[in-house]
Amino acid sequence: MIKLGVNIDHIATLRQARYAGMIDSPNCEPDIAAAASACERAGASGITVHLRADRRHIQDRDVFRLRNSIMTKLNLEMGNTPEIVETALRVLPDEVCLVPENRQEITTEGGLNVTRHFKALKQTVQRLHTAGIRVSMFIEADAMQIQASGETGADTVELHTGAFANLSADLQQDEVDRLEAAARFAQERGLLVNAGHGINYLNVRLLTRIPQWNEFNIGHSIVSRAISIGLENAVRLMLERLKN
Ligand code: PXP
Repeated sequence: MIKLGVNIDHIATLRQARYAGMIDSPNCEPDIAAAASACERAGASGITVHLRADRRHIQDRDVFRLRNSIMTKLNLEMGNTPEIVETALRVLPDEVCLVPENRQEITTEGGLNVTRHFKALKQTVQRLHTAGIRVSMFIEADAMQIQASGETGADTVELHTGAFANLSADLQQDEVDRLEAAARFAQERGLLVNAGHGINYLNVRLLTRIPQWNEFNIGHSIVSRAISIGLENAVRLMLERLKN
């Protein structure tokens, strides 16, 4: 079965909307570690957080707390900058997912350009591996990017499903075919293949037909559904979709 990593950035977004700069306040909520535990109780195979350079949602303290509280797997999404790499080496997450980062974007917009930044990415992969951290590259479903990701020594690629998610249902099949070809190409190169971005309770069905998936990383849709049915139920419902 496809594993489910839950991205809880938007739980921190909600907290920051009221308590930015006051996360020591006894009134501060929602609690990030409690949310991560709820996801794990419901069957998530890991928790993902993105420590952005502008710290707009997840804070350094959250990542250290999660490192201590998470029982499954901590996946730290991050840009390849010296400051954040140093933080990752102190936190020691189980996995790092390297992503492009642009301060103006609302969410991660495209995949990493691994061919262009090959040397710097390869160095970071080596440093993270030396610390015992597995590494994933968040990339477009593109053969050159997959090939280059493999050559950096990365263990996993996470294919960007944003383009698929933004298409109308009648056009999504072509994009699924493209993702499937890319997933096959990556698997043949010994890479684990994950998917993430824009996956929701409706579009997930089409994606699950691709046999190569290892894990989906899903955030916004699960956190949104949690508002009406609770976080544990929202995670369980997504897991049911993955089973079917
Ligand atoms: N994977 C990566 C690499 C991402 O940057 C994001 C967005 O933070 C996600 C998965 C989750 O995307 P969504 O919130 O649309 O489910």
